[in-house]
Amino acid sequence: MPTQTLTYRFRFAAGSPHLLGGYSHALTLVIFVFFIILVRSGCDESGLFSFLIRSEKEFHDAAKRNDTDKMRELMKKGVDIKAKNKVSRTALHWAAGAGNEQALRLLLDHNNEVDVEDSFGMNPLLLAAWFGRLKILQILVASGAKLNCENKNGLGLLHCAAQRGHSRVLEFIMEDLVEDVLLDRVDNSGKTAFHLAAEHGQLEVVEFLIGMGCTHGLKDKDEHMALHLAAKHGHNEVLQKLVETGVDIDERNIDGLTPLHLSSDGGHYECVKLLLQACCNVNALTNKNMNALHYVAQHGFERETSLLLEAGVNTDTVDGQHTSPLHIAVLHNHTEVVRLLIDAECDLDISDHRLQTALHIAAEHGRQDIAEMILIAGVNLKLLDKQGKTSLEVAARGNHVILVDMIIKADRFYKWEKDHQVETQHLRSVTWRLATKDLSRGEWKSLAQHWGFTDAHIRSIEQQWTGTKSFKEHGHRMLLIWLHGVVIAGENPIKGLYEGLTGISRTDLAGESMDRGTGLIVDIVQKCFACQQ
Ligand SMILES: *[C@@H]1O[C@H](CO)[C@@H](O)[C@H](O)[C@H]1NC(C)=O
Ligand SMILES: *[C@@H]1O[C@H](CO)[C@@H](O)[C@H](O)[C@H]1NC(C)=O
Repeated sequence: MPTQTLTYRFRFAAGSPHLLGGYSHALTLVIFVFFIILVRSGCDESGLFSFLIRSEKEFHDAAKRNDTDKMRELMKKGVDIKAKNKVSRTALHWAAGAGNEQALRLLLDHNNEVDVEDSFGMNPLLLAAWFGRLKILQILVASGAKLNCENKNGLGLLHCAAQRGHSRVLEFIMEDLVEDVLLDRVDNSGKTAFHLAAEHGQLEVVEFLIGMGCTHGLKDKDEHMALHLAAKHGHNEVLQKLVETGVDIDERNIDGLTPLHLSSDGGHYECVKLLLQACCNVNALTNKNMNALHYVAQHGFERETSLLLEAGVNTDTVDGQHTSPLHIAVLHNHTEVVRLLIDAECDLDISDHRLQTALHIAAEHGRQDIAEMILIAGVNLKLLDKQGKTSLEVAARGNHVILVDMIIKADRFYKWEKDHQVETQHLRSVTWRLATKDLSRGEWKSLAQHWGFTDAHIRSIEQQWTGTKSFKEHGHRMLLIWLHGVVIAGENPIKGLYEGLTGISRTDLAGESMDRGTGLIVDIVQKCFACQQ
């Protein structure tokens, strides 16, 4: 061979057109013949070189559409009825998968290879189970098909029927073939039919298998029980059934995730709710020390965040990187989740492994809305990150001008607050009362307009939170923003509030009706005065 190669090389290099042409013709011919031999001899097992000649393709198509007349016609002409396509599938596979009984019988009468496998390891029996063809399955069994078969992924008869939700097929298998089939048999990933039914949300099958007495708590190679898989994929009805079996709902998988972590990660509201109602451990930690809140914060799942917060999840758990759910929500710009965490009074001053607080992260990424919420809630502005920078310096370095401005104002406001503790306490409680009790829907907007908020300002406050009571939140936020501004400008907030309320004809609140003595302003002025005595 080497000599020959050399010769070819030499000839090619010599560049004689005549010789070159002669050799390349010969070469093409040799390759072609070799190819044909490859294809038409056992090499098609690998599927690499096989293809169907025309009559074989027609035969497969006829089997697919149950056209037995056409099949007989082709058989008379001597078509190879065992011919395989490029995934080693034969006419028998097609007839079985499509549920074509007559075509199947015709093939079985002429071909005894009932267990023939395609390149995925699927034989006609497994295909019949996969597609729920009960009658076909019965014929194949009667024709001596092997019951203990499995495909390349280790899926057996029960797995195929269970994953696809064919309970009638399962019933037949369990009633008639039970001696030959193992209920808790596992596939290559360690999953039983029960696992697959749970993973794919096949409620009826799950119920059937529970009734048959399968083992509920078996774990696959990732240490998932069926319960984990239902939770992970959001199949709440299946999950309900599995919870009722009494398995431990706080069981951890190989990474330490419980069903609650998995359904939180997937954003499966109903599953999260169900697990919480079943009293799962809301504060369970993964191997990386994450609780469920870390997961919902990462994806920005607001409804699930609310559920977890209502269930009393710890807002301040830090993971292996010392990252809190707030850090994660800020990093991923999930404004609503940040608001929920702040409302739940999470710790705003936690530093992660880079010594960054949530505000540092907001400053670094220029997240204005989030920074504003954090600043209004009140944080420690003196905290330094690993490079010794405050959040103000981080915002300045990033050239986030508006943020720089906000932080400076907040800093001055905090100082003012410190010097005027009593007044601010009252002012804060007054703004809260005003927003949530006294002002009716829409009035906060009139007040904002009176104070010179632009339409754009009002719109962006309004866009923030939506819900039936959101006008109260909008009003409160507007009042706090106003309060910041007034205080920073060195104006008298009590006077401003008085004028604002009078301006929108809520003189009752402004306290003009002195007789009634119910005016808010009168209230604070009196309180502040009393305290300062
Ligand atoms: C298949 O074709 C036969 C006739 O050859 C017919 O009797 C039978 O009902 C067909 N079956 C299906 C599933 O279409
Ligand atoms: C962050 O979210 C806000 C809305 O909450 C959006 O206006 C802004 O564009 C987002 N920023 C980035 C960088 O995606």
